[in-house]
Amino acid sequence: MNQKPPAKLPDLSEMSARIKPGTRRFFILGLTVLFGMMMPARGELPPAGDKPVPALKDIYKNDFLIGVAVGPYVYQNEDKTIGELVAKHFNCLTCENAMKWASLHPAAGVYTFETADKLVEFAKAKAMQVVGHTLVWEQQTPEWVFKGADGKDANRDVLLVKMREHIEKVAGRYRGKIKGWDVVNEAVAGGGKEWLSDSPWKRIIGEDYVLKAYEFAQQVDPKAELYYNDYELENPLKRERCVRLVKGLMDKGIKIHAVGNQAHWSLTKPSIAEIEQTLKDFVALGVKINFTELDVTLYNWGDKNDIYQTGAPPEVLQQQAARYAAIFALFHHYRQHIDRVTFWGPTDKYSWLNSFPVRHTNHPLLFDRAGLPKPAFWSVSEAAGEQKPR
Ligand code: GLA
Repeated sequence: MNQKPPAKLPDLSEMSARIKPGTRRFFILGLTVLFGMMMPARGELPPAGDKPVPALKDIYKNDFLIGVAVGPYVYQNEDKTIGELVAKHFNCLTCENAMKWASLHPAAGVYTFETADKLVEFAKAKAMQVVGHTLVWEQQTPEWVFKGADGKDANRDVLLVKMREHIEKVAGRYRGKIKGWDVVNEAVAGGGKEWLSDSPWKRIIGEDYVLKAYEFAQQVDPKAELYYNDYELENPLKRERCVRLVKGLMDKGIKIHAVGNQAHWSLTKPSIAEIEQTLKDFVALGVKINFTELDVTLYNWGDKNDIYQTGAPPEVLQQQAARYAAIFALFHHYRQHIDRVTFWGPTDKYSWLNSFPVRHTNHPLLFDRAGLPKPAFWSVSEAAGEQKPR
């Protein structure tokens, strides 16, 4: 169900920076023992059927929005219960792919709003807010955008006109219906000498392509919140560069409401201390921090075998529950600085991690393939009462 076109997936070298390899066997054993000692009540599988399942959005209603990224399956009704599950637990919707450039604007002058419109209608009918994702990104943006009429690279002026026109059309269409926009996605480099990632946007327009995107968005929908969204912000170099980018925008009069920390995390990385330091650095900058694409993969980078095809063993699901508990205890502690925590998919069945970085059965979310709550669901539902971890 992952609709991200394979040709547009981030390349492996980029992703390998997100999830560093480790020694899984050793770690699982250690954590299982530790978790068994620390959290006996939460470590048990929930009794199927006889425990009422609380709505996550209600548990966290005084803290932050609980969001989810979805595709058209929520309204298509082929999977009868998924729309219901989404409406019950989540109060904010991100279109997983439907608002990306390639989906909305596949060819010059051609706009295809149908799926995005239907998702926005679905959200409205279910009293969910909507986050716009994303206006300017290197990936899932068609080639034609970066070409001039002669088929060669567009020049700065031509590309700026295209960017402005796209933002006017898209942000204009959803004005009043969208809480905020991920205006630019993934502009900052996690390593190397250049602080901004190499992309056609940067190559053709120059570094100020980022500022221009925010200026256009702010003009088109002055009431929408503006976000900068990126991954691996726990890498100190990348975080420092991200702080520089956001501060630079604010100094130029852009009202950045929040930084979106994508939070594609694993069972071990990043550490809670690193996540907390990242939170603190953005709090100091005076912006909110949203966790915008949360999932916790069961695989280490480089795992190629489909070892969880028939399900993940209870001890691994418990390890994941402990990880989610620690993450949400931290989020709860910093709740006054967090507006939203969004999961990248409603259930394991719909996660992009089943096909990325290789095709294997993953179980990164709170609900299993049948939509039943996993141990991680119960630990997240209990973490709201937790004090600061550690
Ligand atoms: C990035 C993007 C998302 C999505 C995920 C994985 O993090 O911001 O739109 O494509 O990758 O699917």
